Amino acid sequence: MPGAVQPSRRTVSEAETQRANRRDWDAYADEYQATHGTFLRDVGFVWCPEGVDEAEARVLGDVAGRDVLEVGCGAAQCARWLRTQGARAVGLDLAERQLQHARRIDDETGVRVPAVAGTATALPFADASFDVVFSAFGALQFVYDAGHAVAEAARVLRPGGTFAFSVTHPVRWTMPDDPTSAGLVVTSSYWDRTPYVEQDDDGRVTYAEHHRTLGDWVGLLAAAGFRLTGLREPEWPAGHDRVWGGWGPERGRLLPGTALFSAVLG
Ligand SMILES: C[S@@+](CC[C@H](N)C(=O)[O-])C[C@H]1O[C@@H](n2cnc3c(N)ncnc32)[C@H](O)[C@@H]1O
Repeated sequence: MPGAVQPSRRTVSEAETQRANRRDWDAYADEYQATHGTFLRDVGFVWCPEGVDEAEARVLGDVAGRDVLEVGCGAAQCARWLRTQGARAVGLDLAERQLQHARRIDDETGVRVPAVAGTATALPFADASFDVVFSAFGALQFVYDAGHAVAEAARVLRPGGTFAFSVTHPVRWTMPDDPTSAGLVVTSSYWDRTPYVEQDDDGRVTYAEHHRTLGDWVGLLAAAGFRLTGLREPEWPAGHDRVWGGWGPERGRLLPGTALFSAVLG
């Protein structure tokens, strides 16, 4: 079937990952914002499909007067909410179309987020420019070399700065991307770090995600000079029935879908 996506687990380089994901997120951005924009809210900070809201969770603490960077910001809903809390929040994303949505929402809400195109693995900012760096299901699982992205976060943070990020919970990598009970089956090893890759009929990579275990993430944070301060595994809230890809109430009742790390530099 022409144009069919063929998913597999296979190795993929950083260059292929970036090229594929930039193209994929550019193409998917309109549908993504149409599908999830209401749940995310134009000025709102949702960490994950479970709906953990920074307004209550306060993972980043008091941000008033702080320089904050959102990595993999999409349409920058989170950074926009942080600006209403007094933060000097800015965003960065790989996909220009996502940033066009950010500018559209800036115009619609009047809350403007300065946002630039770039990659988490080469942040276009000077050393020690931020008090907080965070990513809500942004870049961390979309890069080949997560250690490099974590080190970049450390570089642009000031000593004592906060780094927090949410990713697909590593245990979910053992299962198919199916939110129903049919997806409650272990089909691959937790320790298999081979990336998830989609490719077209010509074998060209069109999308890639990279898996690390909980231990890998802790090791990467320690190696970059971070002290882990929290690992949240949000429970699926009662009455929350919104399905988002592989996340939904059926599996959410039994297993975590998100890992939310927080750490301090030094
Ligand atoms: C699931 S969205 C999350 C965005 C936002 N937090 C939200 O909830 O809508 C993932 C975002 O990460 C971006 N992304 C993927 N790889 C990236 C990279 N290497 N550097 C920066 N952003 C990246 C994508 O373009 C996309 O906008």
